[in-house]
Amino acid sequence: MSDKKTSADQLSPQGDDSTIKPWGGRFSEATDAFVERFTASVVFDQRLYRQDIRGSLAHAKMLHAAGLLTDADATAIQQGLHTILAQIEAGDFQWSIALEDVHMNIEARLTDAIGIAGKKLHTGRSRNDQVATDIRLYLRDEIDSIGCELTRLQRGMVELAAREHATIMPGFTHLQTAQPITFGHHVLAWNEMLERDYSRLQDCRKRLNQSPLGAAALAGTTYPIDRQLTASLLGFDKPTENSLDSVSDRDFAIEFCAVAALITAHLSRMSEELVLWTSSQFNFVNLPDRFCTGSSIMPQKKNPDVPELVRGKSGRVNGHLVALLTLMKSQPLAYNKDNQEDKEPLFDTIDTVKDCLRAFADMVPAIEPKREVLYEAARRGFATATDLADYLVRKGVAFRDAHEIVGKAVGHGVKMGKDLAEMSLAELQAFGAMIEQDVYAVLTLEGSVNARNHIGGTAPVQVKAAAARAAVLLDARGGCVK
Ligand code: ARG
Repeated sequence: MSDKKTSADQLSPQGDDSTIKPWGGRFSEATDAFVERFTASVVFDQRLYRQDIRGSLAHAKMLHAAGLLTDADATAIQQGLHTILAQIEAGDFQWSIALEDVHMNIEARLTDAIGIAGKKLHTGRSRNDQVATDIRLYLRDEIDSIGCELTRLQRGMVELAAREHATIMPGFTHLQTAQPITFGHHVLAWNEMLERDYSRLQDCRKRLNQSPLGAAALAGTTYPIDRQLTASLLGFDKPTENSLDSVSDRDFAIEFCAVAALITAHLSRMSEELVLWTSSQFNFVNLPDRFCTGSSIMPQKKNPDVPELVRGKSGRVNGHLVALLTLMKSQPLAYNKDNQEDKEPLFDTIDTVKDCLRAFADMVPAIEPKREVLYEAARRGFATATDLADYLVRKGVAFRDAHEIVGKAVGHGVKMGKDLAEMSLAELQAFGAMIEQDVYAVLTLEGSVNARNHIGGTAPVQVKAAAARAAVLLDARGGCVK
């Protein structure tokens, strides 16, 4: 341990900042240098500076309104905080590990600049309610910007779906050809996943939007504070109900990470499909070169790196979710230093989900479906077998019997290398005497998709209408201020 002493005069603004601890009064030796680094969060929590200053401005305004700060002090604090904000934004702020975290760095700088008034800012407040406030404000801003990026991606999807509403492709179950669908229908399935993710984000925002300010360390404060005022100044719906809970739970961050894990899981599924579809075996779509990279040894390669990487990133976000759940699960009330560990997983989740959404929002409108290839692929694999069974049912055959008849016809087709539509009427009639010339209308791909003409079905007319409805929903979302 270092033998440096922390004494009252070293806490003065002129002191060596390695020994200035706002909490140093009861300590008789300086913090061990390693412990100082180990316990500091400023290297990563400085990204909360904007929210920290915003929270302090609201707190100071409230203290002033409550008669706890003079006019002069309140003005000095307000101006000092604005100056610090400008300095940080200009890259002109020296962050100090000795001052532990973003909160104490800013407060110490304020006191350096304005003197005694700066020391009054922390009246009726603790870093515990301060940090709980900052993270909520930060996450709320990030949820809004993630929502914007999600909306941009969904717009691209809905436009792609509208463009390709009549493009026929095979639909799969078990990755085996199942029934013909349209490309637009497939893309709108993606959009539905994201639509739910968007509403989950909004739910999360709603629950986190309460102000912990005033909870102080854990029990509240003896000053006549006005929690409603700080809540409304900061755009919170209301103050939190319980001071212990306010400073201790990070469930809102966990909830956000769960939403982010679902977003990235959804993007990962889409990625997997794009990786398959761009392979020469499927050859369903082209991804423009700008979203791909090559191989250093195999000159022919064009690899779908962007979707692959997005698929990989989902594992990382899942990890952060589990890290936060584990961080929280054994903590007794109220605040514990463990909670400092909430920030890096949360920040990395935010960065990762934003990058993945950005990559997808740029890439999706550029997907080029290969219409002829998709059509030909749908013609293989007996994609209209269910349509033939449904045809037989309309001719009075019970569904299970129809299933059996078509199964036999498919068996014949496999042996002969022919799809159902390629068989002669006589060939088909060998399996079901009730089959007539009109069967060919249902064995075509167009007939098959057109027949699924109900809400949520793959008929092009339905897909077009669904894309239009989805666009209306997107238009109804608030604008994006970045
Ligand atoms: N840096 C701390 C954190 O991120 C701020 C709260 C510190 N509170 C305390 N009592 N040590 O959680």
